[in-house]
Amino acid sequence: MNTRVLTGITTSGTPHLGNYAGAIRPSIQASKLPGVDAFYFMADYHALIKCDDPQRIARSRLEIAATWIAAGLDPDVVTFYRQSDIPEIPELCWMLTCVTAKGLMNRAHAYKAAVDQNVARQQEADDGITMGLFSYPVLMAADILMFNANKVPVGRDQIQHLEMARDIAQRFNHLYGQGDDLFVLPEVQIDDEVATLPGLDGRKMSKSYDNTIPLFEGGAKGLRAAVMRIVTDSRQPGEPKDVESSHLYTLYRAFAAPQTSAQFRKSLEEGMGWGEAKEQLCATIEAELAPMRERYAELIERPDRIEDILQAGAVKARRLSQPLMERLRAAVGLRSVTVCVPDDHKSAGKKSKEKSARFVSFRDDAGQFRFRLLTADGQELLLSESFSDPKAAGQAMGRLKSQPLESLTSEAQGVASVRIDGVLVSQFDAALLPQLREAIAQMAQD
Ligand code: TRP
Repeated sequence: MNTRVLTGITTSGTPHLGNYAGAIRPSIQASKLPGVDAFYFMADYHALIKCDDPQRIARSRLEIAATWIAAGLDPDVVTFYRQSDIPEIPELCWMLTCVTAKGLMNRAHAYKAAVDQNVARQQEADDGITMGLFSYPVLMAADILMFNANKVPVGRDQIQHLEMARDIAQRFNHLYGQGDDLFVLPEVQIDDEVATLPGLDGRKMSKSYDNTIPLFEGGAKGLRAAVMRIVTDSRQPGEPKDVESSHLYTLYRAFAAPQTSAQFRKSLEEGMGWGEAKEQLCATIEAELAPMRERYAELIERPDRIEDILQAGAVKARRLSQPLMERLRAAVGLRSVTVCVPDDHKSAGKKSKEKSARFVSFRDDAGQFRFRLLTADGQELLLSESFSDPKAAGQAMGRLKSQPLESLTSEAQGVASVRIDGVLVSQFDAALLPQLREAIAQMAQD
């Protein structure tokens, strides 16, 4: 089974060079590793917590999507989507909210920092704090648990959020799992190899310090202008430079091969002037960014293409989130009333009958025929595509019951597809395959 790696990018700004080297570039590299299924999404619901300017939210989503694609994200390899295109996420968020202790949220760093600030200013503790900010970690847990992610690469400031996601998942599994875990416990992944870029003044590059180098904005000219503003010491050309304390060197290293960096270092130690060093830094960054900037400009010109990519990403993601949500709804008791068996019935015999999984056929909103395969306790394992003819639906059920499952299913990127005579009958989370096999075996015994 592949490792599911998932991370979110809040869409409240324009990516800068630090975001590129610290998150975008390593994530794209990681998505290409064998054995990895990458899920990268734009956390636009999270952005609403920080920003109430609709123009800025809209612009940021476009720019961030274009940046990732221009930087080499392959939407055929990565499941790349917008959080707000997956209605199962806010639905799950509510279910999780109902099992999350308020006390746990009281301890969240971001919330506590906001309270401390208010207290220091002699304001009311919760002044200006929304429920969005307070519940931020629950929404983040929903993002992660919705896709049963194994690894979540994030910055150190997010470690606590991952711990909370695990806490919440455990509680939910305990309450509703019935021995069969509904959620995988996600692990945080902190990569110390990844470059944290210094900004113009040497502090961490960050919008809040106003010390960023733009990624694509302003073109090659903008990049050059920013590089020329990097703060250096007052040593003159000809004087040896203290390379270790030079953030210009740290920036250079993030974009050059080790050998080239060593050469650059030597030149500085031998007295290369800061002006010359900046020219070299500029050329090195530009070599990596120029082709991406061109693709970025083309993409921004054609937002319809980006929209198509994101819509396709949402379809791919929902193939996993929809069936899991059906299972979760059943697990918490939000089932069809037809599978509501009163407790006293259960204990009154008929046990062997109830123990079995079963097919349930129905007509969908469009009047087409479909069926579900439910476990004994009403959890959905499989939802069929629609059939115009009820006989065809019946035959498909028959084949599923009688034919070895392996001969009908294929698996790609965590999604299992069932085909009968080449026709797609259903797609669902491949993690459900063992349960499905068991359910069919059970039915065969009846
Ligand atoms: N909170 C993350 C950040 O600020 C963004 C985020 C939202 C996220 N949902 C996520 C990251 C889920 C990882 C997984 O960086």
